[in-house]
Amino acid sequence: MTGKFLAIEGIDGAGKTTVAGHIQRFLVDQGIEAVLTREPTRGPIGDVIRRSLGDLELHPYQRALLFAADRYGHLKDVIAPALEAGKWVVTDRYLYSSLAYQGAEGVDMAFLRFINGFAPDPDIVLYLDVLPDIGVSRLQKRDRFEDSAFLRTVRATFAEILPRHALHIDAAQPLKEVLAVATGHVKRSIEGGR
Ligand SMILES: Nc1ncnc2c1ncn2[C@@H]1O[C@H](COP(=O)(O)OP(=O)(O)OP(=O)(O)O)[C@@H](O)[C@H]1O
Ligand SMILES: [Mg+2]
Repeated sequence: MTGKFLAIEGIDGAGKTTVAGHIQRFLVDQGIEAVLTREPTRGPIGDVIRRSLGDLELHPYQRALLFAADRYGHLKDVIAPALEAGKWVVTDRYLYSSLAYQGAEGVDMAFLRFINGFAPDPDIVLYLDVLPDIGVSRLQKRDRFEDSAFLRTVRATFAEILPRHALHIDAAQPLKEVLAVATGHVKRSIEGGR
């Protein structure tokens, strides 16, 4: 059986990291090899991006280019080799976060799509949808983007740019329900459908 490429997207505090870890463990429990990964990556470009979410001041277009550069390495070094080895790949954030966040920062959408033109659409996109006030209330740390007003724009941008096949999950539900819905989608995909 060949592996699938699954991306989890959503605003800050939607539950992406929690759901990503749960799905990877679920796959392994089913006897399926699965790699858990994330963006920004732990590599050098990911480090600069993380600094730019704090004190390092960059222009939104510079951040957009860095996210695309980080993603290029992520695809070449981590995602493609795992998929070629028949493994599943579960990524905590991917392309659609770039389009939504950098789009909300004012970067032109056609430019964002162009600089990310190398990045394939995943087999499965799980979008965890939650109101910004709820997402922010779940978080301890604060970074550049964790502002409810900004996240409202991000959420509206996600609604515009997500691919048609994205599976929307109501992430305001109790975590147990969110995990059950997410796992159900993955189970159906293992059994055949997309
Ligand atoms: N459906 C839920 N109901 C209540 N709490 C939740 C739910 N989902 C996640 N949480 C909790 O909210 C916090 C944030 O979750 P998580 O780190 O998974 O979000 P995230 O989307 O990865 O956030 P970030 O964008 O900051 O990386 C965690 O403490 C997690 O346990
Ligand atoms: Mg997270």
